[in-house]
Amino acid sequence: MENPDVMKGVVLAGGTGSRLHPLTQITNKHLLPIYDRPMISYGIEALVKAGVTDIMLITGGTHAGEFLRLLGNGEEFGIRRLFYAYQARPGGIADALALAERFASGGRTVVLLADNIFERSLRPCVEAFSKQQAGARVVLSRETDHEHLCHLGVAQLNGSRRIERIVEKPQDPPSEYAVTGAYFYDETVWEVLPSLKPSGRGELEITDVNNWYVERGLMEFDVLDGFWGDAGESINAYYAVNDFVRINGANAEE
Ligand code: DAU
Repeated sequence: MENPDVMKGVVLAGGTGSRLHPLTQITNKHLLPIYDRPMISYGIEALVKAGVTDIMLITGGTHAGEFLRLLGNGEEFGIRRLFYAYQARPGGIADALALAERFASGGRTVVLLADNIFERSLRPCVEAFSKQQAGARVVLSRETDHEHLCHLGVAQLNGSRRIERIVEKPQDPPSEYAVTGAYFYDETVWEVLPSLKPSGRGELEITDVNNWYVERGLMEFDVLDGFWGDAGESINAYYAVNDFVRINGANAEE
């Protein structure tokens, strides 16, 4: 029997990785090394260390088999149950997430973009979401580089208490708080996903899902301590994340 109190984890590792071409013409972005391990293993570790051990990995493209070769049934990584899904075409983060419905519906879900690397454990965020009555939760990271914010989702805050909206790839960022790729949803998310329309770049956007919750006053957030990096953002970001992890490690518990 499924226990609805068990939070499920969904790791997204599809997409084209076009910003890391030509490296990603010969492999999936999330199989590229971050210091001494394939990128995907950091996202898996982040969930397992946070106590999330029922996991679905979603990938696509031509290298999906390599994930099975690396992760197998997940035991070596501390996973209790590992499922896989295949995204036939890179239709966006929310399109990939929809593939997890049968795996995750009925309870709460944490979604992690597999190119996001965190210095510290996500356990406090998982615990905060477990205590949240309903709705969704995002994890923000302070970023003072204006140019960098233009490549991310950015939260517009009402004082320091509420998110008023999230703007995807803003020309004029409404704050210094980037939305990282760790998202928490209650079971309503499976009703929100089918209502989405493709954005200008032809994708189903996770920011539209998040704004659905924001508009209903159902979005909470955490602000991260420590380093956060999106290793898929550019080749320079990829190397900055590598340098950070080589020296400092990742997913550290207090
Ligand atoms: O990294 C944080 C940022 O991630 C957020 O600030 C943005 O709000 C959010 O939209 C996202 O932006 P990106 O432009 O970085 O998303 P990207 O297209 O690189 O996709 C991120 C991950 O999602 C990627 O590593 C794999 C997965 N993905 C993406 C697409 C487009 C899929 O699994 N399937 C897909 O079709």
